[in-house]
Amino acid sequence: YDNSKQGSLAIAQTIAALITSKQQESKPCVLGLATGSSPKLVYAELVRMHKEEGLSFRNVITFNLDEYYPIDADALQSYKRFMYTHLFNHVDMVASNIHIPDGSIPKEEVKSHCAAYEALIEQSGGIDLQILGIGNNGHIGFNEPGSTLFSKTRLITLDNSTRLANSFEFTNMSEVPRLAITMGISTILKAKKIVLMAWGPLKAPVVQQAVEGPVTDYVPASLLQQHDDVQFIMDTAAATELT
Ligand code: F6R
Repeated sequence: YDNSKQGSLAIAQTIAALITSKQQESKPCVLGLATGSSPKLVYAELVRMHKEEGLSFRNVITFNLDEYYPIDADALQSYKRFMYTHLFNHVDMVASNIHIPDGSIPKEEVKSHCAAYEALIEQSGGIDLQILGIGNNGHIGFNEPGSTLFSKTRLITLDNSTRLANSFEFTNMSEVPRLAITMGISTILKAKKIVLMAWGPLKAPVVQQAVEGPVTDYVPASLLQQHDDVQFIMDTAAATELT
């Protein structure tokens, strides 16, 4: 796409079409969602479709990819807050259908929380459509380089490069959490369909590695080459290094 706006509108249309087709079959629509700057316009367009075109989210079940750990649910930087601010507060989602890893639980509960998150995804019938951004280091969710194909929802240590990239949201670098809870690579690859979005020139080198490079844990997004229904949606700036 020429720009991120056009690409975002296309992704929102894909999501809306899936929600509507599931509604016609009286089935739930299970979405895997991302945060960060990449999906903001997608969510804005979905909110517009809800308000102006009557797109309903009553049959939608969501699972977010990740959350900082530890973090208060109400903290300005929490991904829970991000999702309510950009999407959930503005559409007719059923509150109990919203699932976000909980960054505020005690450490001894994290393992069982992660196992329960995986089980809930399965019980919901699996993710129909997973939306992803991509980190400059190739991470998807917060699966940093070294995350394997078999990884599940778990507590991980954030790379310093990720903490630096996200530090603009915090007053200083030392306040960026060192840990996060993230769906694993295997969790992501179980989704029936995956759409990864990448905007801007900073993403161009990693997009090239993910799409045209070898399948390797060092570039977690390259592991998506193993899935048979993945789309990378880019603006021209993010696509410049593709051959
Ligand atoms: C966020 C997430 C991350 C981001 C990635 C890109 O839920 O899972 O993988 O998608 O860090 O972030 P932005 O979109 O801010 O460039």
